[in-house]
Amino acid sequence: MKILVVGYKGMLGHDVMECCRLNGIDVIGMDLPEIDITDEAALSARIPSVDWIANCAAFTRVDDAETERDAAFAINCEGARNLAVVARHRDMRLLQVSTDYVFDGRAGRAYQETDRVNALSIYGASKLAGEKAIRAEGGHYVIVRTQSLFGKHGHNFVKAIVRKTRESDTPLRVVEDQISAPTYTRHLAEAMVRLMKMNQEGLLHVTASDSCSWYEFARQIVAEIKPGHEIIPISAAELKLPATRPMFSILNNQRYQSITGHVLPSWRHGLEAYFQEEDYFTK
Ligand SMILES: NC(=O)c1ccc[n+]([C@@H]2O[C@H](COP(=O)([O-])OP(=O)(O)OC[C@H]3O[C@@H](n4cnc5c(N)ncnc54)[C@H](OP(=O)(O)O)[C@@H]3O)[C@@H](O)[C@H]2O)c1
Repeated sequence: MKILVVGYKGMLGHDVMECCRLNGIDVIGMDLPEIDITDEAALSARIPSVDWIANCAAFTRVDDAETERDAAFAINCEGARNLAVVARHRDMRLLQVSTDYVFDGRAGRAYQETDRVNALSIYGASKLAGEKAIRAEGGHYVIVRTQSLFGKHGHNFVKAIVRKTRESDTPLRVVEDQISAPTYTRHLAEAMVRLMKMNQEGLLHVTASDSCSWYEFARQIVAEIKPGHEIIPISAAELKLPATRPMFSILNNQRYQSITGHVLPSWRHGLEAYFQEEDYFTK
């Protein structure tokens, strides 16, 4: 099997590359400036023949998307569509990564793949438009919705908390009323490779197997690196961020679990593995 990882320099893309190599899969990585998924005319000529294109490229700056709508839609919707077109014409399969931000978080329970979508932010709307564009194009695809990623090779919540607690003793203020399942990118990468090996198709929710608030997550991070550092719980509203996030956007993984017979580890296990990989204690 041969896989092309688009966006391989990003947080998730990097780990998908590594996971493919560990599985003995022939893998190629492409990213800007070598490839631009918004460049419809040039795209096909740049893409080598593979079995799967794993699209990890995206506009991921959620708050900036509120003022950079065109760029977010160009990458997250048109870029995804362009890859779907190439994949269909060349008889390749596409794995697209999507997000819990396609939901409004008001269901009060974990979301299934069949649940009604209603994005609250431009980022969420652009990712949802990408899903729809891929579906409309036809061809062979799998869309993996995930959430709250943290990994060694990108900006994320864990890194931000570690940096802030190291830089100063000032208490941290962390959101307590938003609930998600923080997912370690290595665990997600393994799941993605598993799905590609199985030639799986359709829409699947894939996240860590349990959930918490950002406050609870921060407490666990701080317990690992600087026990006793004070954390003050705050509401999401207090942060006044430009983009509205869903308050409770847990994704029900049952479909993924019954298809693969696999359950992703918990966020606590993900965090443990992250710290071992990162080796914070020796720095
Ligand atoms: N991070 C999360 O918490 C989270 C949660 C749910 C879902 N997701 C989804 O998971 C996927 C991976 O996220 P991530 O956090 O790993 O993203 P990331 O770290 O921001 O990486 C995205 C990569 O895509 C590249 N890229 C941007 N525009 C491109 C273009 N036009 N053509 C080719 N490459 C382009 C970026 O390059 P530059 O850096 O040069 O722009 C970067 O290397 C995305 O689909 C995202 O929507 C992420």
